Amino acid sequence: MSADADTAPATADPPLGRGFGHGKVILVGEHAVVHGHAALAAGISTGIAVEARAGRAPGESRLRVPAWNLEAAIGDGTPVGRALEAIVRRIEAPGLDFVADARIPSRAGLGSSAALSVAIARAAAAAVGRADATEAIDAAVMAAEEVFHGSPSGIDAAAAKSGVTGRFTRATGWQPVPVLQKITLCVGLSGRPRDTAAQVAAVGRLRDRLPVAGDVLALLGRLADDAGAALAKGDVDGLGRIMDVSHGLLAALRLSSPELETLVHGARAAGAVGAKLTGAGGGGAVIALAPGHARDVLARWRAAGFEGFLADIVAAPAGTPSAVVGGAPR
Ligand code: MEV
Repeated sequence: MSADADTAPATADPPLGRGFGHGKVILVGEHAVVHGHAALAAGISTGIAVEARAGRAPGESRLRVPAWNLEAAIGDGTPVGRALEAIVRRIEAPGLDFVADARIPSRAGLGSSAALSVAIARAAAAAVGRADATEAIDAAVMAAEEVFHGSPSGIDAAAAKSGVTGRFTRATGWQPVPVLQKITLCVGLSGRPRDTAAQVAAVGRLRDRLPVAGDVLALLGRLADDAGAALAKGDVDGLGRIMDVSHGLLAALRLSSPELETLVHGARAAGAVGAKLTGAGGGGAVIALAPGHARDVLARWRAAGFEGFLADIVAAPAGTPSAVVGGAPR
């Protein structure tokens, strides 16, 4: 046992490793992607930065996320503690102190668990001189995501790593897609935490009982590809219509909530050309596309008691290497 096991980790020492994971929004195709169809998602520039410092005995890694008032340690029995163990074991890192600067809310449908897992795995890998060990980092992130969400499709982890817009299927993985122009999304927070594993399970049960639910999921996958085509053409209005139809289909699968409906309808009333829930649904967040009216949408949400912020999807012409167009890892 380390001498300082029960004391607060020293953060004055320089970190051994740093890592960053992007938050994400799913533009179209959440849940469809679990069932083998396509989804279109974007990593956003804001996310989670992690620093790893030495100071723990092997097997004693700890994590602090001050913005979420969260502390976890290997062996504490919590999901975060188990995810931390899964990451550290796959990276073959010794005992480390991790501190995370989280700039996205947790359990809000913005991929916070994937962003945290990516940032910890990258920081741990950098700390042991294995920053290029992408396979080990990928395996570590997926193992952590399985602790959090059961059997995720992998889209959140892919977006958290990439930071750009991409099409994802379970079969093909993540493929960056061209975006003709920068697009600003309004992100509205319902204030109700989402539970991805529960929502995914509920959709699975509905699909077993009602075969047409499978057709709805296939349609959402088609809309994801239509949305990709709209992005590539710079057809913002078309993308907005696709978002509206997607929201209707997700609501038909019982993934909406009174708060999410208030946010979606408020955005449309404030001038959005399209709005939908994003992520697992039931709670979490909505995204709205409101060229020229983004501030009006935020004001409308605030007046109704909901917080929101703006997130940019960066322009990435076809063929641009994803590494130079992502958000801004620190
Ligand atoms: C969650 O961000 C997206 C879902 O499609 C689940 C998944 O793909 O693992 C609901």
